[in-house]
Amino acid sequence: MVRELNIDLNRESGRSTYRRLAAAIRRAIHKGTLFPGDLLPSTRSLGETLGIHRHTVTAALQELVAEGWLEPIARKGYRVCTVLPTVFTRAQRTPLFAPTQRLSITLKKQLTIDGTFPDRGFRFAFQSGKPDLRIFPIDDFRRQLAECLKKGKTETLDYTDPAGFPPLVKEIGDYLRRVRGVKDRAIIVTHGSQEAIFIIAQLLLSPGDCVGVEGLGYPPAWQALRAAGAQLIPLAIDEEGLVPAALEEAVQRHNLRLLYTTALHQYPTTATMPVTRRSEIYSIAHRHKLPILEDDYDHEFHFRSHPLAPLAASDPAGIVLYVSTFSKVLFPAARIGFLAIPPDLKEPFRHFKRIQSRQNETLVQAALARWMRSGAFERHLRKMRRVYKDRRDTLIDCIHSIGSPLSVSIPDGGMAVWMDCERSSDRIAKAAAEKDVFVAPESRFHPEGRTGTHLRLGFANQTESEIRAGMKIFQEVLGAER
Ligand SMILES: Cc1ncc(COP(=O)(O)O)c(C=O)c1O
Repeated sequence: MVRELNIDLNRESGRSTYRRLAAAIRRAIHKGTLFPGDLLPSTRSLGETLGIHRHTVTAALQELVAEGWLEPIARKGYRVCTVLPTVFTRAQRTPLFAPTQRLSITLKKQLTIDGTFPDRGFRFAFQSGKPDLRIFPIDDFRRQLAECLKKGKTETLDYTDPAGFPPLVKEIGDYLRRVRGVKDRAIIVTHGSQEAIFIIAQLLLSPGDCVGVEGLGYPPAWQALRAAGAQLIPLAIDEEGLVPAALEEAVQRHNLRLLYTTALHQYPTTATMPVTRRSEIYSIAHRHKLPILEDDYDHEFHFRSHPLAPLAASDPAGIVLYVSTFSKVLFPAARIGFLAIPPDLKEPFRHFKRIQSRQNETLVQAALARWMRSGAFERHLRKMRRVYKDRRDTLIDCIHSIGSPLSVSIPDGGMAVWMDCERSSDRIAKAAAEKDVFVAPESRFHPEGRTGTHLRLGFANQTESEIRAGMKIFQEVLGAER
């Protein structure tokens, strides 16, 4: 049923109101405002909207029925005929719009994200970075949402501070200080890390600026940097992450304006940068006044007793722009991420967020704040850490039992492993996909899509028995490719 219909009787000529209404409906069908099969509003509602008597509406509709434009439907009203009259009445003889030449719109930017290798819909999806949403405590979170939506509580329906719903900002600030050692920072809540990275790029970079990025990395972040006109300079990485000498050389050669790093769990290789190397990187950046964008996307999932703190936890010079996300610990569709930045940057970032997307959804922020305050968030984290550690161990066991040609280093944390298969990982990933198993080849993480021999396998979103079953098929694929 078309509940409302935009009709202007004043545009139509005609002696009587019912003729003008009939002409207006014909015009609406002609223009495509009304589609064949659409049910019209009731005669009463049309009469009320147009300020005319219901009988006048009925007279107009009946005329259209007689002409073959409408058909009456028992107990429902009138519907636009699916086969429209081909003989034009006088009203349609003059075309409403003269045919015009189609104009093309010139885009100033065209950025794509590789979608040629879909990672959804597989029976066994070793998707990296995806949490197991099947064990998210949905009832618990629904209770928090329901509390926020109680009658009379209009706060969660309203605009809030663009920097974030204040109770959530407080919870994030406390959590960062207590758990990650990051303190005295301004928090800006964003739509995932993606928006946080995008905002940094917009505020720090000018077209043509060079940005140092790890030689294998996270393409959506690169694209956000490119959207600001940045030129990416890939830097060498090894089994300890970003190589300091490569950074030193690039700073001198390219006058870098920003460094993007995933120091805690290098994406995609999972390497954790040791403390000494981190201080080398930090001092190079400091010496060259180079801001660091630290993307800490899965800090919560560390499997040793004393996880390293992020770079932002010891940043006396205030050069680290720290970005993190709730996509892995809450759920990705919540689109909650945040920036933790030196306080003097707060206002420009807050204003930019206001201009870009006004703010994050107050309701989701409020529910998350309550969930964090209740302690349930950290309980969930502790549980998931145990679950994911067991899954990591299962995946590593499977890889070890397959043995040659596979080799893998055991990640300290995170949600994925980086595995060498000593042959084209594009070929292996394609063959696995044909058997309904998704694994991500190295080329996905290379700035130019260059093929390599590594695969990234996520272990978080499948149970241990799913991991075993998926790896059994993977082993067969590997055997067939030898
Ligand atoms: C390196 C990296 N950064 C950030 C993110 C998180 O993105 P978002 O918070 O926008 O969901 C991911 C998610 O997979 C990631 O792998």
